[in-house]
Amino acid sequence: MSAGRPRRRSRSPAARRAHSSSARRLAKAPVVVAITGASGAPYAVRLLQLLAAARRPVSLIVSAHGYRLLDAESGIASQAELRRAVGAAGWDATITPFDDTDRGAVPASGSAPSAGMVICPCSMGTVAAIAAGTSRSLIERAADVTLKERRLLVLVPRETPVSVIHLENMLRVARAGALVLPASPGFYQRPATVPDLVDFVVGRILDHLGVPQTVAPRWAGNAVDGTSGA
Ligand SMILES: Cc1cc2nc3c(=O)[nH]c(=O)nc-3n(C[C@H](O)[C@H](O)[C@H](O)COP(=O)(O)O)c2cc1C
Repeated sequence: MSAGRPRRRSRSPAARRAHSSSARRLAKAPVVVAITGASGAPYAVRLLQLLAAARRPVSLIVSAHGYRLLDAESGIASQAELRRAVGAAGWDATITPFDDTDRGAVPASGSAPSAGMVICPCSMGTVAAIAAGTSRSLIERAADVTLKERRLLVLVPRETPVSVIHLENMLRVARAGALVLPASPGFYQRPATVPDLVDFVVGRILDHLGVPQTVAPRWAGNAVDGTSGA
């Protein structure tokens, strides 16, 4: 090989066409969004609102404890109330709900098109189940499928403090290919409200899904874009 930069192999026109058609297919494929029983219901609601605003199709699965936390933290006691909180028009245009007890539903199969999966918030119980590959609910099975198909799996755990078991399970899923994105907002953007904190975390999730977002300010050297200084 000659000195200097290694040459990048350019794709053939046929390969370029195949690549861009698979990118288009992926943009149309649903993101599986799961809500489990960790604290952080406002993150889940905001994530669904922003995915709906971006017109991204979503396959939604909420665990029994996911609903318990939605109720306790955001006063959302049913799917109808979650639809209202997300916005009925956006919900109807983008969201297909699935029952967490139905392990035979579409997201249970690797043959179903998928643009990846986010579990937000993700309980340590669900992290443990994914780490062990138990697949005892649709959420656990869909996460297992996402890993085996080598697709993007974003887990948003919230627990503090964490035990050695929690840490080992998070390491195990990260080694299996999951992205562990703790619900842990930064403060360099000088948040003034709870929604600012929520948007910080949800903005980072959208970044990883490749969904354009402007809700989370970006660090620009010694100050965040749009602020006066660090
Ligand atoms: C009010 C409340 C708050 C909870 N907060 C958390 C939490 O922040 N993180 C966590 O891992 N589990 C939390 N749990 C425990 C989980 O909900 C519980 O382990 C449940 O079995 C998880 O099931 P799921 O993952 O199927 O939703 C909380 C439970 C309740 C009732």
